[in-house]
Amino acid sequence: MSVTQQPAPAPGSDPAGDEAAEQLRDRISADSLTTRRDYLRIVATVSGGLAIGGVGVAAGILHRHGDSETLPPTKKVTDRLEPGQSVAFRYPGDEDRALAVRLADGALVGYSAVCTHLACAVLWREDRGPDGELLCPCHEGVFDARTGEVTAGPPPRPLPKVFLTERPDGSVWAVAIARSGEPAKDALCRQFGDAHPLESAQLGCPGAPVAPESRRT
Ligand code: FES
Repeated sequence: MSVTQQPAPAPGSDPAGDEAAEQLRDRISADSLTTRRDYLRIVATVSGGLAIGGVGVAAGILHRHGDSETLPPTKKVTDRLEPGQSVAFRYPGDEDRALAVRLADGALVGYSAVCTHLACAVLWREDRGPDGELLCPCHEGVFDARTGEVTAGPPPRPLPKVFLTERPDGSVWAVAIARSGEPAKDALCRQFGDAHPLESAQLGCPGAPVAPESRRT
């Protein structure tokens, strides 16, 4: 069962679940400085078209996992990804296939590798155009490698995005997911919920308080 298929326990009704949630909050808190910056970069970068320096953001993947209502744990994808390279990985669950691609111009993108037609595996073909193409060989479905949008074949929806960040040591990390076609900010605000009030405030999520860090700047 994937992470997103697991039903959420009622508050206070599952000590083991509460403990796991607490451990997750502790881990996210320990990584909070990097993670909050990552989320802000995701929104700025995806809104601005993926062209950023220093930190790459990828959007990418999610089949059923895009339905998760909570933020999945951050996961290391690879130590390094050079232009013209791609790497398959699993995120957010161990059975959730995903794909990270470094385009020729350095943009870093990530998607669910599960075709939105009939769930065959999607591959990156570097030799097809400037950005290559994301190809599903089952029925010749084709997705734009930079946006995940459908460009040919029977897939009915874009590939769900996986948001990626690149850290100073060059390692690539998956930090969040989106539903097919869902804007980055909407996806993050939905998954932050009440568990990440500071991040929600910094992104300007609906109903979030004014961020303390924003008031100081
Ligand atoms: S399963 Fe991908 S095009 Fe049909």
